Amino acid sequence: MDQFLGVSQFLYLFFNVVVIVLSLMFLKLFKRCWISPVRAQTKLRQNGFVGPATSFPLGNFNDIKKLKIALVMAEKRKSSTIINHDIHSIALPHFALWQQQYGKVFVHWLGIEPFVYVADPEFLSVMSKGVLAKSWGKPNVFKKDREPMFGNGLVMVEGDDWTRHRHMITPAFSPLNLKGMANMMVESTTNMLDRWAIQINSGNPVFDMEEEIIVTAGEISAKTSFGVTGENATQFLKNLRAMQLALFHSHRYVGVPFSGILDFKQTLEAKGLGKEIDSLLLSIINERKRSLVEGDDHHDLLGSLLKAEKGEFTATELVDECKTFFFAGVETAALALTWTFMLLAIHPKWQDTLRDEIRQVIGDSEIEYKKLAGLKKMSWVMNEVLRLYPSAPNAQRQARRDIEVNGRVIPNGTNIWIDVVAMHHDVDLWGDDVNEFKPERFDGDLHGGCKNKMGFMPFGFGGRMCIGRNMAFMEYKILFSLVLSRFEISFSPGYRHSPKHVFSLRPGYDLPLIVRAL
Ligand code: HEM
Repeated sequence: MDQFLGVSQFLYLFFNVVVIVLSLMFLKLFKRCWISPVRAQTKLRQNGFVGPATSFPLGNFNDIKKLKIALVMAEKRKSSTIINHDIHSIALPHFALWQQQYGKVFVHWLGIEPFVYVADPEFLSVMSKGVLAKSWGKPNVFKKDREPMFGNGLVMVEGDDWTRHRHMITPAFSPLNLKGMANMMVESTTNMLDRWAIQINSGNPVFDMEEEIIVTAGEISAKTSFGVTGENATQFLKNLRAMQLALFHSHRYVGVPFSGILDFKQTLEAKGLGKEIDSLLLSIINERKRSLVEGDDHHDLLGSLLKAEKGEFTATELVDECKTFFFAGVETAALALTWTFMLLAIHPKWQDTLRDEIRQVIGDSEIEYKKLAGLKKMSWVMNEVLRLYPSAPNAQRQARRDIEVNGRVIPNGTNIWIDVVAMHHDVDLWGDDVNEFKPERFDGDLHGGCKNKMGFMPFGFGGRMCIGRNMAFMEYKILFSLVLSRFEISFSPGYRHSPKHVFSLRPGYDLPLIVRAL
């Protein structure tokens, strides 16, 4: 009998513990999914931040989806091939509509996550000034998704860790180190151009330029980041693309409770691909550490980093930084190059202008790093391309405490969505010719005549400005110097202009171009 009571008492106790644990879990969930968002919404409203009506649990996802579908239907009805650079309402129709209704600063919701949308450079400059800058981190809601790509590398790391990483990595991008990478870029570009020459001679002058460029940029990035070439470089690129496909899917539900379960298969796939990359990188790093002891010298970013960090980075940190170099550099650079091909095909006069400049600055000699600075007009063209078609169309932050901007408090935990495309296409900032391709606007003006310096930010802003921007200019100048010295580019009638926002800003369809040898 005693024993029987003991068992029933145990079951009674066990049942109570289960009920208490489940109740606590439910309360935590209720607080996370309901109480916190309602509180955030109330605080934001009290501080004058309003926006489109939101609903639980999707936030504004359905509105975004509906507007995008309406746009696709409208596009299907269009047969025109006219190229219009006024792309904000094409790539980001929901923001274009909400801006008309709520202005350049408003709140929208991704699931249960509040995002203050910012397309006002004045607001941006106040929020990122001085001590306020240190109060912003990167949104937690994206960190999980992007983990397979960036780990805890420089793009994602925050606070004192960011200061340590940035300080240690900066020398890897010094002019001396960049100089050592020029040959790698020349080699990969020349291989691509030799392939073009063979294809043209065989009677097929049409190239899918986006594909050509991503393959070459991938090769350059793998070589300059960690000296990987051939099969391994191709594998990196394959994994990157597969990861993007998987992650793009889950991105559609960012901020929605349990979105990880909804997108379980894709999340798992991205994680698996990320792990493959991690183990490949770990073996490269270990090999490099051994060869460094033997005195071998490597001119890529990993080589420079290993020399500078002197054992201060852990193996995981080194892997994450290598991933970051590759993933942060490859897509952004490839898209800047791709859109430039499109714009140069529309503007053959600019091809001639650049060819003249290349002849004057580089002549018939081999490309040397120190001469690249003389390609001034090419810098204008790159800036103008990045203005009209920014490879990084938005930037995000998250408040790490209550932050006051112009007398309005942004509550701790609120995310910020900075719409770079909107600012780069804002007639109030650039004037009536805002949607025209006019590289000369950058002649003698680093901000292209924008009325507010923060209105032009292709490489980000403040302390977290792109660490690889000089490297990106170098790759761009080397590639176009070689291309334009040998070929001219024109449009293939098959092109349909439809920039899409998929992670970055990319052509919605292929970019078929005709290439002729000079
Ligand atoms: C045209 C080419 C490129 C563009 C348009 C571009 C754009 C950007 C932007 C907008 C940011 C700031 C992101 C933010 O504030 O959240 C950024 C950061 C960064 N970029 Fe680039 N990037 C380019 C090329 C590269 C290259 C070639 C590398 C390296 C090989 C690179 C590595 C990084 C890293 C590591 C960061 C994080 C910096 C930090 O947070 O301290 N980027 N880039």
